[in-house]
This record gives sequence, structure tokens and C-alpha cells, in this order.
Amino acid sequence: MPEPPATETDIFEVIATQRAMRRLKPDPVPGEHIKKIIWAATRAPNGGNVQPWRFLVITDPERKRALGQIYAEQWAKYRSMDNAASRAVSSEAERRSLERTFAAGDYLAAHFHEAPVIIIPCGFLLAVNTGIASGSSIYPAVQNLMLAARALGLGTALTTLHRQREDDVRELLGIPANAHIAAVIPVGYPMGHFGSGPRLPVEAVTYWDQWGEKRP
Ligand SMILES: Cc1cc2nc3c(=O)[nH]c(=O)nc-3n(C[C@H](O)[C@H](O)[C@H](O)COP(=O)(O)O)c2cc1C
Repeated sequence: MPEPPATETDIFEVIATQRAMRRLKPDPVPGEHIKKIIWAATRAPNGGNVQPWRFLVITDPERKRALGQIYAEQWAKYRSMDNAASRAVSSEAERRSLERTFAAGDYLAAHFHEAPVIIIPCGFLLAVNTGIASGSSIYPAVQNLMLAARALGLGTALTTLHRQREDDVRELLGIPANAHIAAVIPVGYPMGHFGSGPRLPVEAVTYWDQWGEKRP
């Protein structure tokens, strides 16, 4: 695919407003957009430029429904263990924000199959990398994909609950044993606005020269 032309979109604006969009319209997404966001994924850094990835694009209603069913079952289990009330929160604002996130999660679980497109990035493990790095080449690609989607006005949500049922998903979609399901990402036009998610300030997460050393 030829390189997409540069646009006016500011990359920092895209980064700032790329967040989990769990309420998606069922409206169709142009095939060109899907190709473009996967193109962006394939520009990502990866170990030895082996490009250890495949991107499975699901639009078939039956397969989407089956993926949605698995997600809803795993979400129900997760929800029985975790909710806004069970979390240690330091402020009322934080509690409200968590409640909104869980409500959005409930919505996604009930409507997963309604996303017009579901993308499943799969990664191969690299022997050349060890530990956390061996399977991590896929995640820069996932982030590129989600940023490119945001730049095109498409919402995404990186979900991983299907990993708990990887064998079921493999069987459903014919995914071979060496291809690891990194995420299952519903893609579509969002019902709400993009906005910015809450994050710690840079100073709180940055050390200089030595672990724990801060600079004003
Ligand atoms: C490794 C990983 C796994 C995640 N799994 C899920 C998931 O299964 N379901 C979900 O709704 N969101 C999932 N998320 C999205 C996070 O909940 C979300 O990025 C985080 O709460 C920050 O919210 P924001 O993106 O709206 O700022 C996952 C994110 C990451 C990085």
C-alpha cells in the first residue's frame, strides 16, 4: 500500500485523545480505513524486523456474536471480583470515574458483537528476545493501530479477556497454536466524544539518572 499522505492532524492531539471507546455505533467502516490502520500497525518497531504478527479482521455477524458471547462470560466473571466499590479510591471524583468505566465496560460486554469490525492482532514469540520482550513486538503495532483509528475518527477498545479462553477463540477462527492472541479490538465510530483519560503527571512517573531520583 502506498504511504498515506500527511494530514493536518496533530500527533499529540491524537495521542491525548486516544482512549478506550466502549460504546460504538454499528455503522459500517470503509474497507480503506481498515487497511490504513493495519498499515499503521505494520510500521511499528518489532524485534529484528521479523514482523511477527498477523491481523485477523472479523466482520462476519456469526463470528462477532460468538466473540461477544465469550467476552460477556469472561466480563461477568471479572465483574464478580472487581467493581468501583471494591477499589481503594482516594477521592469522590476517582470513584465516579471508576463507576463510569465499569458502566462502559458493562455496555461493551452487552454490545460487543455490534461493533462493525473486530480486529484481533496475533503475535508470534521471538526466541531472540527473552522474558517480557519475547511476545511484546505486537503491542507497539496495536498502539499504532489504535492511534491511526483515532486519527480517522474511529473508536477502539483494547480488550484482553478473550486470552482466558484462547483455545475457544483459536477453534472459532482457525488460529494456529503459535499465533498468540494479543488483544481483541472492537472498532467503530464512537457514540460519545474522544476526550482524554486520567493519567498521573509526568513528574510522578519519571526518575532521573537513578531509580527514585526526581527533578523539579
Ligand atoms: C493490556 C491491557 C488489557 C486491557 N484489557 C481490557 C479489557 O479486557 N476490557 C476493557 O474494557 N478494557 C481493557 N483495557 C483498556 C483499559 O481498561 C484502559 O486503557 C484504561 O482503563 C485507561 O482508560 P482510557 O484508555 O479510557 O484512558 C486494557 C488495556 C490494556 C493495556
